[in-house]
Amino acid sequence: PSLAPIFKIANPQLAEAGRHQLRLAENEMPGLMALRAEFGESKPLTGARIAGSLHMTVQTAVLIETLVALGAQVRWASCNIFSTQDDAAAAIAVGPTGTPEAPAGVPVFAWKGESLEDYWWCTQQIFDWSIEAAAAGETWTGPNMILDDGGDATMLVHKGREFELAGAVPEATASDSHEYRVVLDVLRHSLAESSNRWTEIAAGLAGVTEETTTGVHRLYELASAHELLFPAINVNDSVTKSKFDNKYGIRHSLPDGLNRATDVLIGGKVVFVAGYGDVGKGAAEALRGQGARVIVSEIDPINALQAAMDGFQVARLESVVEQVDIFVSGTGNFNVIRTEHMLKMKHLAIIANVGHFDNEIDMAALEILEGAVRVEIKPQVDEWRLPSGRSILVLSEGRLMNLGNATGHPSFVMSNSFTNQVLAQIELYCYPEKYPVGVYVLPKHLDEKVARLHLDALGVELTVLSPEQSAYIGVPIDGPYKVDQYRY
Ligand code: NAI
Repeated sequence: PSLAPIFKIANPQLAEAGRHQLRLAENEMPGLMALRAEFGESKPLTGARIAGSLHMTVQTAVLIETLVALGAQVRWASCNIFSTQDDAAAAIAVGPTGTPEAPAGVPVFAWKGESLEDYWWCTQQIFDWSIEAAAAGETWTGPNMILDDGGDATMLVHKGREFELAGAVPEATASDSHEYRVVLDVLRHSLAESSNRWTEIAAGLAGVTEETTTGVHRLYELASAHELLFPAINVNDSVTKSKFDNKYGIRHSLPDGLNRATDVLIGGKVVFVAGYGDVGKGAAEALRGQGARVIVSEIDPINALQAAMDGFQVARLESVVEQVDIFVSGTGNFNVIRTEHMLKMKHLAIIANVGHFDNEIDMAALEILEGAVRVEIKPQVDEWRLPSGRSILVLSEGRLMNLGNATGHPSFVMSNSFTNQVLAQIELYCYPEKYPVGVYVLPKHLDEKVARLHLDALGVELTVLSPEQSAYIGVPIDGPYKVDQYRY
């Protein structure tokens, strides 16, 4: 039977609009297209059943179709309630040869503006492969690979198995977030239906490839607690991922989100950027480029010193909060911007989070702050009238606003990230003997390959080592060019 009609998206009629976007994106994603050319015939991902949880954007659509071109079967959900581009989701569900009436694409479960209950329902759908199994006459019912962004899919498997082993799902505690309560409910239902569903899924998984800093952090925590159930490749820490997507991607998509959300002039404003890691560096550079006066905060003396030497004032939020027009958070930490700060902010100050989770801004406390009233200006832009007598503007309810208020990073930079993703999927799926349970980064020669695949499109002329130079510095002509600890 055809799997194509199995999806839940906003509107299949948007497929044609999405397909146009995909065609343009393919031209800007030379890394992914090169992998299609290199592996399209040998199809190394044949037999791979990939459960994907990553923002369902145009760029992700090109990633999905690349995985399929390499032989994989895919089920997909977004990793954020606001980040889906409905036209891209439609193009994926309908497929290049299908029509909205006779879809022939990939099972995708994603739309812009999901509730948290919808979100976790969608995430569960990427683990249910019973229809594919029936079609193939197989006994497996789950995926054998995860492609994750932020670690929610990986977390669901680990928590599900943990509760199955315990025989019960714990009651939520007072400190548990609304979202975690939803997860507990999902797993409670699952346990009522089956006592070993997640245990079996975990056993069938060959591994996960993780996209972002926050998800990678969760993986290392699991590994150091000896709780990681399958091997993982940390895609984020490929140089061609974090030093490009996190930095140059944000440099593009943060101002894009601010402009689309508010159209406020950035030049001359005082902007506060919390965190001067890869994301913070891109954010600070972009806003300075627009003529803003940028103030950075950091907890790490090395990053603080970097920010200072890059010419930014470095200060604590408490010291400057009353002067700031736009607050940007990109730390991967939680409770960075709290209600005590919000109450001191200027009238109509803007709060924009680009860190992975919404708890970077203490939205939970804002929602129960006495006297605070929310007024929706338009989708993903809320005015909060505060008891201070002033208002603040919160973008995307404190979630990733570059994806919620704009369309995320552009194709060219995502081609770097996603070429790493595809190579990581091939590594884990085709060479499991190289990767016992643990967290790995891709070898340097593959990182360099990703960069190489993007040079021609930018007209880059790379200098080639002479044999004598190669011998003199002890670096092979074809690389790898740097030792692993080199920092770029
Ligand atoms: P990073 O680890 O390079 O940088 C984070 C920085 O924040 C660190 O230097 C850390 O010292 C600092 N920090 C931590 N707590 C802080 C606090 N309370 N106040 C001030 N600074 C603090 O991480 P990276 O790669 O920059 O990622 C940051 C977040 O952005 C992560 O959650 C990541 O998943 C997410 N991300 C979002 C993207 C997007 O499209 N919006 C793209 C890539 C990453």
